[in-house]
Amino acid sequence: MLFDIAPKTKREDLYDFEHELGELHRSIEHSRLIAILAPRRYGKSSLLKVFLGETRHLHIFLDLRKIVIDYGRASIRAFYECLSDELTGFICKYENIGDKLVKALKHVKGVSISGFSVSLSWSRKSRANIATLFEKVNEIAEKHNVKVILALDEVQELRNIINVPMLLAYIYDNLRNIVTIITGSEVGLVYDVLKLEDPESPLYGRVVKEIRLRKLSYTEAYEFLRMGFKQLNVEFSEELLDKIISEVDGIIGWLTYYGWFITQHRAIDIEEIKRKAATQAAVEIKRFLERSRSRERYYNILKAISSGIKRWSDIKRFLEAKEGMEIDDSTFNKLLKTLIKFSFVRKADENYAFNDPLLEYAVKYLL
Ligand SMILES: Nc1ncnc2c1ncn2[C@@H]1O[C@H](COP(=O)(O)OP(=O)(O)OP(=O)(O)O)[C@@H](O)[C@H]1O
Ligand SMILES: [Mg+2]
Repeated sequence: MLFDIAPKTKREDLYDFEHELGELHRSIEHSRLIAILAPRRYGKSSLLKVFLGETRHLHIFLDLRKIVIDYGRASIRAFYECLSDELTGFICKYENIGDKLVKALKHVKGVSISGFSVSLSWSRKSRANIATLFEKVNEIAEKHNVKVILALDEVQELRNIINVPMLLAYIYDNLRNIVTIITGSEVGLVYDVLKLEDPESPLYGRVVKEIRLRKLSYTEAYEFLRMGFKQLNVEFSEELLDKIISEVDGIIGWLTYYGWFITQHRAIDIEEIKRKAATQAAVEIKRFLERSRSRERYYNILKAISSGIKRWSDIKRFLEAKEGMEIDDSTFNKLLKTLIKFSFVRKADENYAFNDPLLEYAVKYLL
């Protein structure tokens, strides 16, 4: 069903993106590291999940945003518990290889096995070594002549927990039967985390196959909504589809949300839907502000852009007026750069604009 709000897992529910899906299928055969990048709600997890459901290769999927949500923040404990669960799932799903993996993992420091259940110790003294773990996975995969895909959804969440470039470089260089796929909503941040262009970084010079997702065009968005309503036998007017698209642009996650809301509630109060959707976006931006040391400054910059102040010099003037003092250019540029890194805003020509109209609405009215 097109208007299901969970990430899609089957090709028949995946609208468009066949090209990107094909690219994943091709790349998995020769790439070592693949990145699916796009701001929030562009369909990264859906693409990844549909692909994993179809590929003949085995996979371990880690939803790294879930560990932030479940535990309040990412921590080594949360990551190890999530990895323990997924390894257990892997062993149960691929019984044949699972058996061998259980045997191999028994002797690894910090790993306890009970039946088919894996538990990784995260305590400082006896912490399981992640690289060693994946070495074992690789050994078994090599023996069975299969490939294992390590899928890290929202990889930037691991940035303060483990040395991500080190782990990925180790897998890239040494574990030839493991291919890593990462996704990231904070596109610039992912590049910061990977440090591909830093000669000091372990990942320096490695090739990353990048798949960028895009917004749907007007025609694609229109067709998506039309098909979604039709699937559920819900009447709609051309004006309604126009109105939705004019509000959410071609962001497939919002199109799905609007369609889902209307078909669930059999109500077309677009203002109410917009407010509900923007409330979700507001939570995301609040979370960012809470974690940030320059909270007030980011808040003011976002407020300026949402109220139509788009030029560099005008935004800077707005901020200076708020603070009652001059801010030097490099400090100001750093702030803007961070907002771009987190995919909240983008620079188009000389102007700064929100990537997501509902995020803009949230900043304007709900923050
Ligand atoms: N190609 C698609 N066809 C139909 N629905 C889709 C497609 N891609 C995404 N969706 C829907 O859009 C919403 C967002 O999708 P998804 O969670 O895959 O995006 P995401 O980029 O991973 O988002 P986030 O950044 O929040 O993790 C979901 O409701 C999903 O069902
Ligand atoms: Mg996702």
